[in-house]
Amino acid sequence: MKIITKMSLFFTLLTNIYATSYVLVEEGVSLSLPTSKIVVFNGTPVEVFSTNGDNIKVAIKGFMNPSDEKSLYATNNLKLLLAQVPEGNFIKKTGNQGSLEIEMNKKHLVESADTAWEKSADRFYEKCTKCHAAKVVKEHTMLEWEGLYESMKEFAKPTDDDSANVLRYLRAYAKDGILGEGK
Ligand code: HEC
Repeated sequence: MKIITKMSLFFTLLTNIYATSYVLVEEGVSLSLPTSKIVVFNGTPVEVFSTNGDNIKVAIKGFMNPSDEKSLYATNNLKLLLAQVPEGNFIKKTGNQGSLEIEMNKKHLVESADTAWEKSADRFYEKCTKCHAAKVVKEHTMLEWEGLYESMKEFAKPTDDDSANVLRYLRAYAKDGILGEGK
């Protein structure tokens, strides 16, 4: 009985330590970390591996363009930016994938993907449901959304900040996005 309790405690700790969290940015779609100047984008999934008060050490994993050592993307089509670093050697590279370890204040992290993406989702509903009901995001791929968005832009009259939010939202929740169908 005691052993089982200890084991379940151990596994609870383990899953907490390696839990996935999501970056939440208050203003705009990205934030620049104060000392490292690494730019992290809203909604980026991170693996939390240690906590020290308000400081959380996390890893961001993603895909890279062979000719750009400074950007990490969510998927291998390189459409959704997760992070950008000032120096190439910040990201550990393995083939076309990369991993970046950073420290963040816990106020920038939330446990639910939908909470992190809420602000961008609101912008999508605000800009894209004036003339028709909301289109189902997971019914299209990221590439299809790019074309559809381009044709709707003239109707929706988005600001640059609207576009940044809506496009990121569409790409994250697209059929082939990190939060799309079956994810
Ligand atoms: C000023 C009106 C207006 C706004 C704002 C608007 N749309 Fe549309 N949209 C239309 C019309 C008109 C159609 C064609 C009829 C239909 O499919 O409902 C359409 C069609 C669509 C379609 C279907 C196209 C196809 O080929 O299947 C998608 C997807 C779409 N809109 C997405 C969006 C998105 C995303 C936004 C926000 C950026 C947006 N719309 C904002 C008027 C608008």
